[in-house]
Amino acid sequence: MNVKLASIFARRSVRKFTSEPVDDLTVKDLLEAAMAGPSAMAVDPWAFVVVRERERLAEMAEILPYGKMLGHAPLAIVVCGDRNRTHRGLESYMIQDCSAAVQNLLLAASMLGLGACWLGTHPNVERMEALGRLLALPEHLVAFATLAIGHAAEFPPPRTRYDATRVYYEQYK
Ligand SMILES: Cc1cc2nc3c(=O)[nH]c(=O)nc-3n(C[C@H](O)[C@H](O)[C@H](O)COP(=O)(O)O)c2cc1C
Repeated sequence: MNVKLASIFARRSVRKFTSEPVDDLTVKDLLEAAMAGPSAMAVDPWAFVVVRERERLAEMAEILPYGKMLGHAPLAIVVCGDRNRTHRGLESYMIQDCSAAVQNLLLAASMLGLGACWLGTHPNVERMEALGRLLALPEHLVAFATLAIGHAAEFPPPRTRYDATRVYYEQYK
């Protein structure tokens, strides 16, 4: 692994957090990183809901079956897609742009010494609708991805899942 790419390999899903809160300036840093991501025609079809209230986090842990760690995470950021802003009105662009924002946010969290985990939300309609109600999202905003964030209490090692058998040159053969 190239040491110049160490910050990419160091990003791992972290699911255990200390009770230490994440301060406002750090949250702003994370959101600046998210909104530095690529976006088709730079239309930025996204909105971010920052959640810190303990009770709301607990409700999110109920909604997301594989997001139980929200019950003890100090912070969640829900990345929402904005159907009114997406390039050519196509949902696919919104998904691609939001995915890039999520990855930037995860990398930023790791580079700032935090732990974070992407919790599957879209395309599960039940989860998206329940989060939409909990966060009072208007009709045009879609809960796309939920990120559990905090100071890490577990430290999975850096890695890549590079697999040479998945790589082809010039043609698939
Ligand atoms: C779309 C998506 C949904 C995911 N949903 C969950 C989830 O609900 N709960 C969870 O603990 N991890 C979730 N993950 C994290 C993956 O399990 C994790 O990225 C994968 O195992 C690779 O490990 P790494 O992130 O440490 O490299 C999700 C990742 C993606 C990209």
